[in-house]
Amino acid sequence: MDRLEFARGLARNAGLLAHSAFGASATSMKGRHDVVTAMDHEVERFVRQSIADKYPNDTIIGEEEGGGEGRAVDRVWIIDPIDGTANYARGIPHYCVSIGYLERMVPTLGVLYDPAHASLYWAARGEGAWRNEVRLKVSLCADLGAATVECGWSTRRSTADYLALVTRVMNAGCAMRRAGSGALGLASVAAGSSEAYCELHISAWDVAAGVLLVREAGGHTNDFFGGDGINTGNPVIATNDALCAELAGIIGITAGC
Ligand code: IPD
Ligand code: CA
Ligand code: CA
Repeated sequence: MDRLEFARGLARNAGLLAHSAFGASATSMKGRHDVVTAMDHEVERFVRQSIADKYPNDTIIGEEEGGGEGRAVDRVWIIDPIDGTANYARGIPHYCVSIGYLERMVPTLGVLYDPAHASLYWAARGEGAWRNEVRLKVSLCADLGAATVECGWSTRRSTADYLALVTRVMNAGCAMRRAGSGALGLASVAAGSSEAYCELHISAWDVAAGVLLVREAGGHTNDFFGGDGINTGNPVIATNDALCAELAGIIGITAGC
């Protein structure tokens, strides 16, 4: 079994585990508007153990249990056990398990499982992006007046900066969305159901799988893993091809158009 097949099976099993307590897992607050459930920890432990059993020499980084410090970066797995935890905790069916795999810091595999919709999103470098058996392509929309841009939000950046971003996007004529899962936001760009996803700061586990989905679906992202993005996060932008240059200018994050 190769790493792609392994990752797809693992994401699916992890998603089914998460869904077994959908809307019912005990919650606590890590900070203001930063909820965590008991299942976030349980799913991450399950995913980490599965990877460690199969690939004991690979490095593993996860949102809830950390890891990776001082370890080799040749082969790195980056896990978000539940992305969209605020939705998950309240029974809103918009969340996923995200597993990304990088070789020498290059996104190489990306797998998301959305258990509420039985959707397995996956991408392998050079092999395209897929949802279950269907190949994904970014939207062909070239009209800002018909474009939807998802502007992710967290307390890691100021309200003023977020409102300025949303104002630029809306003044350019775009519709604005905020659905609460950065990973599924990127998958939406890959699937052509939005033209862009952006966030002023986001962590590596939120985007490690999604950036590859977007690139393999014919879209563009910034060089998220440039600098120290893997450890400290970075801004993120992901767009379709037709509006890439215009949206990058409006959003204010350089994309590799
Ligand atoms: C969050 C979600 C949210 C994004 C935040 C993330 P979590 O992750 O992806 O949509 O805007 O930046 O931290 O807490 O649900 O895993
Ligand atoms: Ca997340
Ligand atoms: Ca999470």
